[in-house]
Amino acid sequence: MIPTAQAFGIDIGGSGIKGAPVDLNAGQFASDRLRIPTPEVSTPDAVADVVTEILNHFDVHDGTPIGVAFPAPIKPGKPIDFMANLDQSWVGVDITKLLSEKTGRRIRVVNDADAAGLAEVQYGAAKGQSGLVITTTLGTGIGTALIIDGVLVPNTELGHLNLEGKDAEHYASDAARSRKDLNWKKWGKRLTKYYKLLEKYFNPDLFVVGGGVSKKSAKFFPYIKIDTPIVPAQLLNNAGIIGAAYFADHQQKLEAAARANGVLAVQQVEHVPAARV
Ligand code: BGC
Repeated sequence: MIPTAQAFGIDIGGSGIKGAPVDLNAGQFASDRLRIPTPEVSTPDAVADVVTEILNHFDVHDGTPIGVAFPAPIKPGKPIDFMANLDQSWVGVDITKLLSEKTGRRIRVVNDADAAGLAEVQYGAAKGQSGLVITTTLGTGIGTALIIDGVLVPNTELGHLNLEGKDAEHYASDAARSRKDLNWKKWGKRLTKYYKLLEKYFNPDLFVVGGGVSKKSAKFFPYIKIDTPIVPAQLLNNAGIIGAAYFADHQQKLEAAARANGVLAVQQVEHVPAARV
């Protein structure tokens, strides 16, 4: 693998599965990413085959931390119990076990929005921000990451809050914008309702807006009328890959430290949710 890369990240999304070696000092790709379309029927086996193909494409050294960002809540050692936007056959599957067995490597899995949030706090738009940062990813769904003074509260799933009698992501995601052919102003009004809801319940210090559409923030930010500061993600759509790589490296270090101290078994370490950044 490229000498500057210390970890490898893969981001599994509704339309594409993307991977790249990551330079964790710089918080950027160490070489170009590879993107393969998500299989039309996105079953666990079909997705695992694409993950294997991506890893085979790059010369990833043994021992390199490999992180996968995935669009569902991830509880280590437990099967997935909720899946919004990929094939329902994921429910009941232990993704970490499946991907590790299929690829023959130690794979660490993190929720995709949590990965993006970690990357933005570590390297991007929320670097140095104290207090509560809520990163939202606007794509097929709405993903959320809550990070308090650098510590992640994982699996928050606030894209499924009830808004206007619907699942919020069905009302305000980027996919909802395309589906309903909303102009930027109309979508901005829907986003205002969504961010106001988050404001009311969480009182964050900063919102970061990620997902592919964040590169067009100049078009819709003027229509989001809220009190909390709101900024576009700096790592744009690369945050999932970079955050997954960062997460895997962080977990690997925690596990190594725990083994050295002989205090915790590896499985217990994996249940420590906080990634202090
Ligand atoms: C899923 C989340 C995910 C988000 C963004 C939601 O539908 O439930 O786990 O983070 O989409 O992909």
